[in-house]
Amino acid sequence: MFDSTDSASEVPARIEYLRAEIGRHSALYYQRDAPEISDAEWDALMRELRDLEAEHPELVTPDSPTQTLGSAPSAGFAEVAHPVPMLSLGNAFNAEELAAWHQRASRLIGDEFEMVCELKYDGLAIAATYEDGRLTRGATRGNGRIGEDVTANLRTIDNLPKRVSGAFPPLFEVRGEVLFPISEFENFNRRREREGLAVYANPRNSAAGSLRQIDASVTAERPLDIYMYGLGYPEGEIPAETHYETLRYLADLGFNVNPNNQLVCSVDEAVHYYQLWLETKDALDYACDGVVVKVNRLDYQRHLGHVGREPRWAIAYKFPAEQKETLLADIRFNVGRTGSINPYAVLEPVVINGATVRQATLHNEDYILSKD
Ligand code: IVH
Repeated sequence: MFDSTDSASEVPARIEYLRAEIGRHSALYYQRDAPEISDAEWDALMRELRDLEAEHPELVTPDSPTQTLGSAPSAGFAEVAHPVPMLSLGNAFNAEELAAWHQRASRLIGDEFEMVCELKYDGLAIAATYEDGRLTRGATRGNGRIGEDVTANLRTIDNLPKRVSGAFPPLFEVRGEVLFPISEFENFNRRREREGLAVYANPRNSAAGSLRQIDASVTAERPLDIYMYGLGYPEGEIPAETHYETLRYLADLGFNVNPNNQLVCSVDEAVHYYQLWLETKDALDYACDGVVVKVNRLDYQRHLGHVGREPRWAIAYKFPAEQKETLLADIRFNVGRTGSINPYAVLEPVVINGATVRQATLHNEDYILSKD
């Protein structure tokens, strides 16, 4: 064991070493289920780090594992006002509606324009603030103007950098979506069922439920993933004149940006991107409910602005809601707290949007009769 009285100059190095080791072992434990050390050895590393930080409080950083693992806000989450509102997106449900959006934008821009096609992730939107390159604040979207402070929870997500590398503005905010991997979802729910806990309906709920845990050490045990899709604001310049360049810049800083983003020049190409992902989305390990088409040039985006809560420079082109057929195995009844009788269908399990559906509510007798 390191003796902290040894030499003051060795303390920062030892702290760095401990943080790196704890980071590596928590990834092995939480993400890969493959621990290399015992719980006791883990505790010893954490204890040594805590002791050193207690002796040298000036060396405590917000991204230290002592600050990120197991730190629980006392009650609920604090509110966070978004300096730039988090907007929602207008929808297109077919190629004609997408073309109509393009035509409206064309008229206002008065020129041809490129677009970026992205997947529309079905998870939980977050905004992450970086000051001097360090993650200092994480917030949910909330109502778009005010979200919840989930900083401690966001810090437990492995592929969200706690510190960025390269040249960055002194203050900036990145936005993206937290996702629960589909491949983990079934096992996770089965485990919860065994433990007598409520199961999550789908990967989206599971992502939201996992991120919004009061005790961030619970979030740390969940295999959350994150994709960044834009910049909320930078204080200062960034080397990008287009959305596509912004995404590349974010990737250079170390953010997880989806390699499936694509630059296109026409509505036809955007529809082609949509068709491609409609056919192949089930191969992805995260839930998507459409694609998002965004005007590429940032000056055009500013010119287009937004109407109400929806930008004119972007639109969600939604995938049709998935429908599947299955067999009705049984009809059973729950008795509610108030004594009400609630019928539900027991189904031959069927996968819809990444979730295995085994039951469906039948509401009441009229509903059952109407469904024959
Ligand atoms: S851009 C103003 N890009 O969709 C632009 N949003 O309906 C709004 N979403 O809450 C955000 N994937 O969480 C953007 N590639 C993507 C997205 C995406 C999913 C969500 C986002 C937002 C909602 C808006």
